[in-house]
Amino acid sequence: MSLNRVLLAISALWLAISSAGVGAGSLAEDKQALLDFLAAAPHGRGLNWSRATAVCRLWTGITCSADGSRVVAVRLPGIGFSGPIPPNTLSRLSALRILSLRANILSGPFPADFANLTALTGLHLQLNRFSGPLPSDFSRWKNLTVLDLSFNDFNGSIPASISNLTHLTALNLSNNSFSGQIPDLDLPNLLFLNLSGNHLNGTIPKSIQGFPNSSFSGNDLSPVYPLTPASLPAQTPLLVPSPSPVSSSITMRKLSESAILGIIVGGCALLFVMLALFLYLCCSRGKEENFVSGKASKGDLSPEKSVSRNQGMNNRLVFFEGCTFDFDLEDLLRASAEVLGKGTFGTAYKAVLEDATTVVVKRLKEAGVGKKEFEQQMEVVGRIKHENVAELRAYYYSKDEKLMVYDYYTQGNVSSLLHVYLT
Ligand SMILES: *[C@@H]1O[C@H](CO)[C@@H](O)[C@H](O)[C@H]1NC(C)=O
Ligand SMILES: *[C@@H]1O[C@H](CO)[C@@H](O)[C@H](O)[C@H]1NC(C)=O
Ligand SMILES: *[C@@H]1O[C@H](CO)[C@@H](O)[C@H](O)[C@H]1NC(C)=O
Ligand SMILES: *[C@@H]1O[C@H](CO)[C@@H](O)[C@H](O)[C@H]1NC(C)=O
Ligand SMILES: *[C@@H]1O[C@H](CO)[C@@H](O)[C@H](O)[C@H]1NC(C)=O
Ligand SMILES: *[C@@H]1O[C@H](CO)[C@@H](O)[C@H](O)[C@H]1NC(C)=O
Ligand SMILES: *[C@@H]1O[C@H](CO)[C@@H](O)[C@H](O)[C@H]1NC(C)=O
Ligand SMILES: *[C@@H]1O[C@H](CO)[C@@H](O)[C@H](O)[C@H]1NC(C)=O
Ligand SMILES: *[C@@H]1O[C@H](CO)[C@@H](O)[C@H](O)[C@H]1NC(C)=O
Ligand SMILES: *[C@@H]1O[C@H](CO)[C@@H](O)[C@H](O)[C@H]1NC(C)=O
Repeated sequence: MSLNRVLLAISALWLAISSAGVGAGSLAEDKQALLDFLAAAPHGRGLNWSRATAVCRLWTGITCSADGSRVVAVRLPGIGFSGPIPPNTLSRLSALRILSLRANILSGPFPADFANLTALTGLHLQLNRFSGPLPSDFSRWKNLTVLDLSFNDFNGSIPASISNLTHLTALNLSNNSFSGQIPDLDLPNLLFLNLSGNHLNGTIPKSIQGFPNSSFSGNDLSPVYPLTPASLPAQTPLLVPSPSPVSSSITMRKLSESAILGIIVGGCALLFVMLALFLYLCCSRGKEENFVSGKASKGDLSPEKSVSRNQGMNNRLVFFEGCTFDFDLEDLLRASAEVLGKGTFGTAYKAVLEDATTVVVKRLKEAGVGKKEFEQQMEVVGRIKHENVAELRAYYYSKDEKLMVYDYYTQGNVSSLLHVYLT
């Protein structure tokens, strides 16, 4: 027999033993692990766990797999468990998927041996007195869907590896002592996020800006949209936008229900106002014909309106009355832009001009309207003054390009921002 064969045989044997070790685990071992936990962890209320009874059917708080071969869930809320979780007890439940020890008096660090509970999908340790930092590598719990560690005293930073938990739907770290920056939690399935009541600082990463204010309150976070150009994210020229439909759709998906309701209500209101104005204009057409159509065709400025216009027959940016902006089309096209979102009628960009003026530019999709009609519509929209509707400041029409320029709102007026690009 060659040396190679011997080595092969030995490694095969070793593999068999080690995989048996990993797969090892039986109901009897799970039962023993639970009894060890109960014996070592002080608790207020008694549990009717007895060695003589069937763990799957008769033990409070225990759920087994369908075939009754392993313990898959342990739910022991409010039993009065205190002190640290005894090491090498619960961590031996290697098939455990759900562990809830919420509302006890457990303390000490995050149990290091939970690293062995790789099948966990739900970990609920909220309302205890755990302290110290979280483990840095959360990747081992890759099936985790719910992580609730709220109302403890965990500190240190939020581990960046949480962003590896792609199945995560709920993350609640509220009311702890986490500090430092929030990592980029670009999690496709995340529906609930609560980081409130910590000592987090820095800015809220773009990936989670769609969550409500109360997800972040009680921290030292900076405003979502700092207006200093230096802190703007990667930028592209307006006319060669590199839209990121993925990130914008993520933001959209994560809007809270109230935001969506706001959009719908606001959209309806806007539609109604536009309709009313159109009707008004149509009905009083005889009287105002010159005012509306004469201006558009001849390019005259009616004295009452004092609409200022840039020179140039075709390339004019038309500003509305009271607008303090001082730029022309060239400036606008040179501005750096960032996609804010895509609506039914086009794409909205945040444009930062050279002098740091920030506006929202909506580029309309091929609308198929003539110049006259477009200008009439713009005049109507430009007259809308409502606290919840972003004000149209200027527009631009050419055969190939139709732009609308709005005020840019800092955070705090998210609904206005949404009206801009959704209507
Ligand atoms: C333990 O309590 C549960 C309900 O809390 C009950 O269903 C179960 O039968 C009890 N087990 C024993 C062994 O008494
Ligand atoms: C995890 O389980 C293995 C055995 O399966 C054991 O050797 C190891 O010490 C455990 N790790 C921890 C952190 O308890
Ligand atoms: C994670 O879930 C998948 C699908 O349910 C399962 O096949 C896999 O074994 C789980 N991973 C662990 C470590 O239990
Ligand atoms: C976390 O809390 C512990 C005490 O529980 C303290 O010793 C440690 O310095 C704290 N760490 C940070 C980063 O605040
Ligand atoms: C995510 O997991 C991969 C591999 O498991 C690892 O290399 C990477 O560092 C993890 N990411 C973070 C942010 O921890
Ligand atoms: C933590 O957040 C989740 C999801 O939003 C929620 O179901 C749970 O009740 C929260 N926990 C506490 C203690 O508020
Ligand atoms: C954030 O807080 C940490 C300490 O928790 C501090 O070192 C850091 O300077 C703070 N950063 C900012 C931008 O305030
Ligand atoms: C939890 O955090 C919120 C938000 O900062 C705070 O208002 C509340 O007092 C905290 N609750 C407890 C019990 O610490
Ligand atoms: C986050 O938790 C705080 C404190 O528990 C609560 O007031 C707030 O409503 C929660 N926010 C969300 C979005 O669940
Ligand atoms: C968000 O909450 C803070 C208080 O934590 C409040 O000052 C701020 O005005 C709120 N912002 C919005 C947009 O509601």
